[in-house]
Amino acid sequence: MTDLEVRTDKAIATLGLEAKVRLLTGATNFTLHPEPSAGLAEVVLSDGPTGVRGALFTGGRIACQLPNATLLAQHWDTTVAAQAGALLAEEAAAQRVHVVLGPTVNLHRTALNGRLFEEFSEDPLLTGALATAYINALQEHGVAATLKHFVANEAETDRKTVNSLLDERTLREVYLLPFEMAVADANPWAVMAAYNRVNGTPATEHMELIAGVLKGEWGYDGLVMSDWYAATSTVESADAGLDLIMPGPAGPWGDRLVAAVRRGEVAESTVDEQVRRLLRLADRVGAFGTQRQWPSEGPAPDSAERREVLRRLAAGGMTVLVNRASTLPLAAEGNIAVIGRHALETVTQGAGSAEVRPPHVVGIADGITQALGADRVTVVDGVEVRRDPLTAVEGSLRDPETGELGMRVVTRDAVGEVIESRHVGWTELFTRESPWVRSAVTIELTAEVALAEPARMQVGVRGRGEWTFSAPGHFERVRLERVDDAGEVLRLPYRTVTLRLEPGARITAVATAEPEERVIGLAARRAPKPPAVAIGAAVRAAREADVAVVVVGLTPEQETEEVDKLTLALPGEQDALVAAVAAAAKRTVVVVNAATPVLMPWLDRVDAVLWAGLPGQEAGAAVAAALTGEIEPAGRLVTTFPARDGDGPVWSPVPVRGKVSYGEGIAVGHRGWHSARTEPLFWFGHGLGYTEWAYGEAELAVADDMIRSVRVEVTNTGGRAGREVVQVYWRPEAEPVRLVGWTGIDLEPGRTASVDVPVDARLLRRWQDGAWQQLPGTGEVLIARGLGDIRATLPAAN
Ligand code: BGC
Repeated sequence: MTDLEVRTDKAIATLGLEAKVRLLTGATNFTLHPEPSAGLAEVVLSDGPTGVRGALFTGGRIACQLPNATLLAQHWDTTVAAQAGALLAEEAAAQRVHVVLGPTVNLHRTALNGRLFEEFSEDPLLTGALATAYINALQEHGVAATLKHFVANEAETDRKTVNSLLDERTLREVYLLPFEMAVADANPWAVMAAYNRVNGTPATEHMELIAGVLKGEWGYDGLVMSDWYAATSTVESADAGLDLIMPGPAGPWGDRLVAAVRRGEVAESTVDEQVRRLLRLADRVGAFGTQRQWPSEGPAPDSAERREVLRRLAAGGMTVLVNRASTLPLAAEGNIAVIGRHALETVTQGAGSAEVRPPHVVGIADGITQALGADRVTVVDGVEVRRDPLTAVEGSLRDPETGELGMRVVTRDAVGEVIESRHVGWTELFTRESPWVRSAVTIELTAEVALAEPARMQVGVRGRGEWTFSAPGHFERVRLERVDDAGEVLRLPYRTVTLRLEPGARITAVATAEPEERVIGLAARRAPKPPAVAIGAAVRAAREADVAVVVVGLTPEQETEEVDKLTLALPGEQDALVAAVAAAAKRTVVVVNAATPVLMPWLDRVDAVLWAGLPGQEAGAAVAAALTGEIEPAGRLVTTFPARDGDGPVWSPVPVRGKVSYGEGIAVGHRGWHSARTEPLFWFGHGLGYTEWAYGEAELAVADDMIRSVRVEVTNTGGRAGREVVQVYWRPEAEPVRLVGWTGIDLEPGRTASVDVPVDARLLRRWQDGAWQQLPGTGEVLIARGLGDIRATLPAAN
């Protein structure tokens, strides 16, 4: 017996049933119960894939904000995924966090999914390989990864109830594959069971998938936790192989599980096995037995070291979609007009549990101005891009008492006496995370509007409840109801008014404290201008410049957990803005600040398009480096971009009578696009970089009638050093095409290299009649730079 087994057996033998069961539900939102008598310390969990955000949902601690998952994935580079994992591990250690709730390996099944930004790709192989590298790097540092969400969780509409219907082949070959790869090659210490049902059974109760496939067939020895509030049953979830209910301390286990064991409905050995897995996780992260030594604080999130890594991670994944007449990189001379709301209010992350509060955000306009010099750059705001006023834009509100950014929160009793007055360094408050507001009868939020000169502002209040709202010359009472199509935390009801305000104007919102938990806050932003006014100013600036850089994009209203999109069109009048600028400017470069596909009706009228993703805290510095060529934006797309709403193998994410049928089967993403022969706007794998590539002789290595690797000569025929991603696709006979391998290579101009692309054998199988079979090794092998640019086609069988 190993030392761990001895300690575990001892703990299980000494703890009574209640004590054991208590450990199997979280203690709070993001912590697990300690059990000092058994040598178990508190285990701390934190979201998520793009940064370690800590224990608070709103206004949490400052942490590095990484580029989003698609931007990282666009490097097509496992060493980049490993770099992200290692950085997250250091950030976790600095916060004393044992378990990071990521990576997300659900796939881009439909471009409308609001949560795509958190997932790597539409392709299971790319996803599985990147997740593996990311997990290995995290766990090498003693921090657990949590592979999520297990499984068939590819949309947000009705996410807590939707029933995903898939045949066994599709499940195995596509949606389980990234999980299978990561379990085999990285052994994540935790897995999160999803909200949805799979073929009728809630994922948290899915015995066939959790006990059967994951723990049985794959031999997984880690812990399976529920997604937050996902588990509702006692016996079914415990028997299915779920090990931990999150969050806590309430939940469907506790006393109910104790009673079920006493009644003989759940075997006590099941509870012992759950405790065993929990203690194994705790041991792995240094919270069971000898406690881990945390390193002394690592580099701060705004240190030069972190900033440089984050800038490179973002810029290198950015993708050149179009580059006519070598418009990019920008020339060393000439005037640039930087235009667009996203240039000024750059979107660096999607919304939801992956949100991180960064130390700063380098906006795109600032980044370009810093890189090129203020004398070359003019900055012009664009059209309005948001429908709702979100949290007050950072820096727009100040606590009137201290002058610090944020607001003053005053709680009062029934006769209006002040109970407490506090500064909150954020303009939202989650009452669940603020126990000090609970005894209040009213909660008053006050802030001063930070303005240099008088301006028309849209100000107001956000969050459910009975409110009074006052501002200079304005007073109203309002009742805000829950927005019923989404959660309480992400989509808040709001009420705003537009007023001309003087610098220092004070706004106050008073709510009657309600027993229920909710997020409340203040809203403030500059009043939107009519689109024609914004477009007029943009056109004037574009005419004067040598190059117009128009920055457009999505916002967290589209790229968010809990809500799917209805269209891929850019919000607001951004398409009209681009078209007008393109008509006026000598040259137009469009920078798209979004993670997931958008329509580009102006594509033929612009000279270049840089896909910038959601670049994280160093956004502007990274965009500037990519535009100037200081860092090659060497990304390749990780998802196919439809040309029109409705195109592609899968469109609507909306369940029909509670069900989403994965009827396209294994032909998801580029596989489906290729068989349908519909031309997308851009193919999966597309990306131009800044140099040119020629492909020479290609050769297959075949063993046992199956392709094992491909060797091909590539030459950098352009004028700059660059990175090429050699992609190998296989089209088995009568089957959709599939990515089977890729290799990235960095080459100086004029150099040739022989590139080996290993083929992953897991892509050469077919799930049939309940077992894996090797597919016949016939068909075609395509060597490509995305399926729109195939450089060689070879018969698969020699
Ligand atoms: C999300 C998970 C996340 C959890 C904790 C859920 O809503 O689906 O991905 O880890 O919340 O914040």
